[in-house]
Amino acid sequence: MVSIIFNREKILLNIDKSRLELSLHDKIGSTNDFCKITTLKKEFLVVASDMQTKGRGRQGKKWISPAGNISFSIAYENADDEPISLIAGVISQLAISIALNVSEIKLKWPNDLIYKNKKIGGILVEREISGSQNKTIVGIGINLALNEKEPWWGDLKSFNIQNSRDDILNNLIRGFFQFTDGDLVNWVELWNLHCAHKNKIIKIFNNKILIDEGIFAGINSKGALLLKSDKDLKEYNSGEILIEGIY
Ligand code: BTN
Repeated sequence: MVSIIFNREKILLNIDKSRLELSLHDKIGSTNDFCKITTLKKEFLVVASDMQTKGRGRQGKKWISPAGNISFSIAYENADDEPISLIAGVISQLAISIALNVSEIKLKWPNDLIYKNKKIGGILVEREISGSQNKTIVGIGINLALNEKEPWWGDLKSFNIQNSRDDILNNLIRGFFQFTDGDLVNWVELWNLHCAHKNKIIKIFNNKILIDEGIFAGINSKGALLLKSDKDLKEYNSGEILIEGIY
């Protein structure tokens, strides 16, 4: 379990260590699965691995996680009904932008991370009830370096990232602490500010069936998509969206 790849001190810099258990791995099946089977001993369980062999994406898809990427999960007990997957998008956008000093990391609804119009990261939120614990597990995958690629997958290889992974992990943990402490109240504004497709024409699909089309007018505090058409503003809570020019 002891990882020689990560710098634990750097990851925990300026973090209250009494609040979390940090589990670092060189190789793991899935950081989300590890959180599922591990009992919370502290307020947070944070897991990061250099690579995953059974990384999972949304909708039952496989998530490719070669060595050098970010495979991160954070688990905590949470009764709230917050749209945590969108909030995690904001936390991730800020974590990467600050660590790499870039301004072009964007968000695609509901929770994809975009760089140069390609997907460079995703978020998988799961709930697990075991014994008396009702856990929320937020898994974040960020492509720092990918070899095999679909045309719409991107990575952050063009940055000097060798030393930045620990900083991104540190920022992610601090972001989640900030949110659970009630200090990320402006997350809706931040999400809308960093959205890759604000005011663009989008198509909404459910199970691959086109259900609506219009202008993306942002999200609300429930994390719902607001779609502007000729006469009204509609709200959508689920679905996949398609935008011309973005992966
Ligand atoms: C998506 O499909 O966009 C979500 C991808 C989420 C991947 C992350 S990597 C860390 C965590 N562990 C997993 O198995 N999946 C999530």
